[in-house]
Amino acid sequence: MQSAVLKGQSIYRRVRETGINSNYWYPLAWADQLQPNQVIPVTVWQQTLALYRDHSGQIYALEDACPHKGVELHKGEVHGSNLTCPYHGWEFNGAGECVSIPYFPADQKLPCAQARSYPTQEKYGIIWGFPGEPGLASQQLPAIPEYNSDEWFMVRIPGEFQAHFSICNENTMDVFHGFLHKELQGWFDPVLLSLKQTESDVYADYQVSYRGILTKLMGLGKAGNGVTTRTVSIHYQYPHYHSSLEGVSSLYLMRLPMGSTLTRSFSMLFLKLPLPGWLLRGRLSKLLEKAVLHQIFLKFLHQDVEMMESEQRSYLANPQRNYVEVNPAIIALQRVIIGQYERFMQQSDRSLNPPTEIASDCNFELVQDSKCR
Ligand code: FES
Ligand SMILES: [Fe+2]
Repeated sequence: MQSAVLKGQSIYRRVRETGINSNYWYPLAWADQLQPNQVIPVTVWQQTLALYRDHSGQIYALEDACPHKGVELHKGEVHGSNLTCPYHGWEFNGAGECVSIPYFPADQKLPCAQARSYPTQEKYGIIWGFPGEPGLASQQLPAIPEYNSDEWFMVRIPGEFQAHFSICNENTMDVFHGFLHKELQGWFDPVLLSLKQTESDVYADYQVSYRGILTKLMGLGKAGNGVTTRTVSIHYQYPHYHSSLEGVSSLYLMRLPMGSTLTRSFSMLFLKLPLPGWLLRGRLSKLLEKAVLHQIFLKFLHQDVEMMESEQRSYLANPQRNYVEVNPAIIALQRVIIGQYERFMQQSDRSLNPPTEIASDCNFELVQDSKCR
């Protein structure tokens, strides 16, 4: 590892002001947080969606503003497969089209009023949404082969940080902060072994050493002095992470940037616990998951949250201040985040359409007489 200060000041300041590339799938909620006939608000980078599940389990996401007068649709109710606005009762189907106005006579045509709808899907116990250009939603979700495998024990780790998503992502890439977790017997003696960056990915391998509780929990072989040295492979695949420890543990961090200083994280940690199968499956496994989460991983997370939020506060207090970065993996990560945003802005420029079908088609007469399409 070089000891020289890396020339990253201008990148640093730009990355903290960077938006997201919306043309990716983002996690909106844990699937079990949304019951049939329930609607909740979820914010993806300053756009709030009304996310609802109908009676049959199907999921839909509409923009959280009624096309009539802008009331938040998440305050409404699910009727069948539709969402009803609480103010005048206009009803919208999953595609966002107005399909009923309760005070219109049956033979009166409905106005062209449409809420934007967003592609959604449910996979890995997570509800995903695609906030960008719907035509690009055919791209893949991150692959999680460990999910539902008997070989792995899963611990879900929810997180929310009052910090820009770049700060959270740097925390994950920054294996040198083992110092913070020393009381929790985290890891020590990190060395960056290799680093590769592409347009959308950063691959970094670090060597780290463990001693204590993590060594026992993960069943890592012990040398005579109780210290185990292993390689952690971190793969940032915009906009999410996968980090693995030589087939012993595998961690997926799915990030939901909500606003310029608010980020949510949906993490899934897979462990090969040296415990009997009956304890790792069935009802007891839920209790074990809770215990491992609270006794170990949330303690790490709380320490990280404190650091990330502190970093954000200092940035807001003095955005022009220079900082000293010495880890090239962080600079590589910042480059990908900025590059993806620039790419998104270019894509958006190219696909700019005339205002919208609705605005161009609607005049007073049409509102009275016709539907949008
Ligand atoms: S504001 Fe939604 S129905 Fe009127
Ligand atoms: Fe940490």
